[in-house]
Amino acid sequence: MMDRKSAEKRIGELKEQIERHDRLYYIDNNPQISDAAYDELLRELEEFEEAFPDFAADDSPTKRVGAPPRSSLPPARHLMPMLSLDSTTSADEARAFDERLRKALEKDRIAYTAEPKFDGISLELVYENGVLTRAATRGDGTTGEDVTPNVRTIRSVPLRLSDDPVPSLVSVRGEAFLPLDRFRELNRRMTERGEPGFANPRNAAAGALRQLDSRITASRPLTFFAYEIMKIEGAPDPPTHSEELDLLSDFGFVIDNHWKTCDGIEEAIDFHAVLAEAREALPFEIDGVVIEVDSKRDRDAVGARSRSPRWALALKFEPRREITDVEDIAVGVGRTGKLTPVALLKPVDVGGVTVSRATLHNARDLERKDVRIGDRVRIKRAGDVIPAVIERIEVAGQKRSGPFSMPSACPVCGSPVEAEGANHYCTGGLSCPAQLKRRIMHFASKGAFDIEGLGEKTVESMVDLEMLGSVADLFRLNRDKLLELEGFAEKSADNLLEAIERSKDIALPRFVYALGIRNVGEHVAGLLALHYGSLEAIAAAPAEELISIREIGPEVAASVTGFFSNERNRKTVDDLLVQGVAPKPPERTAADLPLAGKAFVFTGALEGITRSEAKSRVQALGGRVSSSVSAKTDYVVAGSDPGSKHEKALRLGVIVLSIDEFLSLVEGD
Ligand code: IVH
Repeated sequence: MMDRKSAEKRIGELKEQIERHDRLYYIDNNPQISDAAYDELLRELEEFEEAFPDFAADDSPTKRVGAPPRSSLPPARHLMPMLSLDSTTSADEARAFDERLRKALEKDRIAYTAEPKFDGISLELVYENGVLTRAATRGDGTTGEDVTPNVRTIRSVPLRLSDDPVPSLVSVRGEAFLPLDRFRELNRRMTERGEPGFANPRNAAAGALRQLDSRITASRPLTFFAYEIMKIEGAPDPPTHSEELDLLSDFGFVIDNHWKTCDGIEEAIDFHAVLAEAREALPFEIDGVVIEVDSKRDRDAVGARSRSPRWALALKFEPRREITDVEDIAVGVGRTGKLTPVALLKPVDVGGVTVSRATLHNARDLERKDVRIGDRVRIKRAGDVIPAVIERIEVAGQKRSGPFSMPSACPVCGSPVEAEGANHYCTGGLSCPAQLKRRIMHFASKGAFDIEGLGEKTVESMVDLEMLGSVADLFRLNRDKLLELEGFAEKSADNLLEAIERSKDIALPRFVYALGIRNVGEHVAGLLALHYGSLEAIAAAPAEELISIREIGPEVAASVTGFFSNERNRKTVDDLLVQGVAPKPPERTAADLPLAGKAFVFTGALEGITRSEAKSRVQALGGRVSSSVSAKTDYVVAGSDPGSKHEKALRLGVIVLSIDEFLSLVEGD
């Protein structure tokens, strides 16, 4: 065995070599050793670090392969707020933006930098003394999620800055994304495995970044482009954005080289047109051009609004549009029974993708656009979303067919159709095979019961053979029944039964999500579970109370109460419990939060905190915020010039807090 001193030296050498080859490969596109030779260096380093763990630093390239899974993504407060950008698709609005700035800065002409607006996930990377110590998603702009181990796996993110001298602290912002070829490759692999695949590279990147297990992130080849220094200490802040980009490049970041300094707004608008053309051939997705004042001093002079700086504008691309003919109109039935009219089109190429269907959303949309079979229409495809019909195009002298109307019976099960606002729903519920099949697929999916081996084909035959009439019937399946199905042998039948049995032990949020309540995705299901802690409590919650939960609005509340007031749904839920499904409450519920059950009312001008911030602080700690004072109010927070609410509080003997008292309460004293 080597002594510590020589091991340390060798580790240093190996790190340096690997970093150099990473740069050559990922940044300079000029690899100088074979993959095998590279792997050999990495393996040697791994062995040394295993033998001498205290030399295994955070900036070691071995961290690129991922770390053991974490239980959650902890919150990370940004060093500086991550603002967003005002955006427009209109060149005239860009000119108006320029005019405002010229007026404010008293200049005839402003130098801008224009660069692609990358369509990925925005990240903040913090380097302390040159070493990457934290990476966070944008979140709400103030606090994001800590995704450090995941970001360490991204090869184009330097683990250590290479410029000399390094700043003591620097916070860098940029975009993580999946290049198009890798996105297609990932989706191909996923569909081969029977997984649904991602709708677009952006979702795929978000999914990869938010993994608890960074080894999964490491297997999804993300790339990172840096574009902003948000904060720098111990080194001079570059006076212009162009110089900032150069400095980022010196630090070892990858900078996309399509940026341009522009003398005046017209050059930036021209650049937008050039990029719009070049876009189709780029190996990654962009959705516009970011136009920014180049001089930092000018930026400081115009400042920022609460959400976005005054010195920058996103000039986005128009969504891709094309014209084609409607050959037919079909009606699809979704998991929740919603009927969606879909225009079946004469296939047309829209920005490189063949489109043969476009959604008409609902009956109201269809009626407003008055689209009929045989009509000529303009359609659009905006990257991630399903192609949609924008409008009908009048064709002179054309004889049109009659207006299309939504069917009165479900096209799948024949049950009566009911209109609800702009939408139509099949009333067949779980007796509608379209709904049942999709509901079961949803019920068994990864984020829900996660029943391995229950594929789409199996579910289809089970429903067609009437083995399943509801999701609860899954727990009544047995070996004999399964063996009736094509493709099942004893082994596979037993495996499936075992997976079903295992799934009974389920966390409450997954259970709630699995029910397929309209408007209740994984996130909302988690909120409900955390707030109420039990299925019974969720099922009994009145709408007014649901609305008081942060992020839950009237529409979601109505879906939840609607679901649990439906006899058939209650039966299914009971049936699941009878079958031995046991939803486990979250370990920490909202009832354990410090302000659980406390009702707050705000009045007057709150100094030092916005109303919405104050509200979310209360809600985050389990409290409720309402607008009027009653005997049920626990605290009234009075800012300056409080009005009648304050008086009423005094009358009712409700505790009145000053803004300082409130802040120390929510700050945990
Ligand atoms: S500059 C103050 N440059 O677009 C904001 N942003 O809503 C400074 N984005 O999430 C951002 N490409 O992360 C800038 N070249 C680029 C960008 C870019 C993509 C993202 C940004 C933000 C969104 C704007």
